[in-house]
Amino acid sequence: MPRWDELWLDTHLATMAPGGTAYGAITDGALAVQGERIAWVGRRADLPDAPDQLASRVTALAGAWLTPGLVDCHTHLVFGGHRAAEFQRRLQGESYESIARQGGGILSTVDATRAASEDQLTTTATARLATLHAEGVTTVEIKSGYGLDLDTELKMLRAARRVADRFPGTVRTTFLGAHAIPREYQGSADDYVESVCRQMLPAVIEAGLAEAVDVFCERIAFTPAQTATVFEAARAAALAVKLHADQLSDSNGAALAARYGALSADHLEYASVEGIQAMAEAGTTAVLLPAASYFTHADRFPPIARFRSAGVPMALATDCNPGSAPATSLVLMLNLACTLFRMTPEEALAGVTRHAARALGLSDRGTLEIGQRADLAVWAIDEPAELSYWIGANPCIGVICGGQRVLTRPASDGATDRPGPV
Ligand code: NIG
Ligand code: FE
Repeated sequence: MPRWDELWLDTHLATMAPGGTAYGAITDGALAVQGERIAWVGRRADLPDAPDQLASRVTALAGAWLTPGLVDCHTHLVFGGHRAAEFQRRLQGESYESIARQGGGILSTVDATRAASEDQLTTTATARLATLHAEGVTTVEIKSGYGLDLDTELKMLRAARRVADRFPGTVRTTFLGAHAIPREYQGSADDYVESVCRQMLPAVIEAGLAEAVDVFCERIAFTPAQTATVFEAARAAALAVKLHADQLSDSNGAALAARYGALSADHLEYASVEGIQAMAEAGTTAVLLPAASYFTHADRFPPIARFRSAGVPMALATDCNPGSAPATSLVLMLNLACTLFRMTPEEALAGVTRHAARALGLSDRGTLEIGQRADLAVWAIDEPAELSYWIGANPCIGVICGGQRVLTRPASDGATDRPGPV
């Protein structure tokens, strides 16, 4: 009687399990799935019996690589409209920050998101997620933050939940009511923070619409003191916190995130040495967003070497949003992280698997190890560094979520003699 539902053979595994070979790689490996979980991982030669004695279904992958399903741990996938006009203004020399100060930027997307119906928000976000999914993404985080009033924040989060209902993978939602000061509260930001804490957050919790709380701590958004007020409210409700920190200036955001035991501090171009040390001590993950650095012509990149030497785990995400990062390719982020930030291809892949899962507080995914969720991506590549190497290609040929095959597609990397679809 076979023990496993499915056994994948004729494959190489980038397990991303820490501490072993580069990428936790196992060449000529095998991986077994039972139910939603990984039941066995190892070298094919070490299988305890003949494959068809071990599993009900045996699939040979013609030499393709298996990785954990990718995790996009920071997105703003739900939003109305776009900001192509603002992009052109920035190309003429205006900065992201000065456009925001003039009432454009995030607030223009707030107008478009308030005007959009929940159906429209659901449809557009579903399409964006489908693009990510075709590149092996099986878990995605979606933030609110373009409503900035109770009704629209709830509408965004409900849309995110509806996107989740249509997605075979996992969606985690984050309440980002403190993303910008809405027009109605210009000059009275503290009152808005009070409304975020006393009115919006309780309603979001009551409706069960968020797993975490995020804040944009920046000189064009919320001060460290206002951020701490929101974090206190989140803590009282036992919700995890995350922080948009030190993107445009050193606002002491990294240290603040660490002080509240944040799952992650994100952006971090201006993170200080002390902030990085505090993150290391608190176990806070650094979420790096190369599309935002690239697209806003950031005047500096995050201090990768310092995160590395302090032992801060580095995750990578698209930050998909209409202002600073209209990016729907997590695989492209691997390339940008290597070329712009000088991360290694192995660090980049850990950044969208093991470390990204950690940035969401999910310990059941991000590596190919026994007992982990069987979320897998299948790649037509010869070696894992290719995932960071191609620019704009999609070598993903299959996606498995919770043990189920949910996507099969041809590779599109321009290379020949690749294995066919799963
Ligand atoms: O992560 N930095 C703040 N929030 C978003 C950008 C939002 C926008 O410009 O619409 C970010 O980059
Ligand atoms: Fe963001």
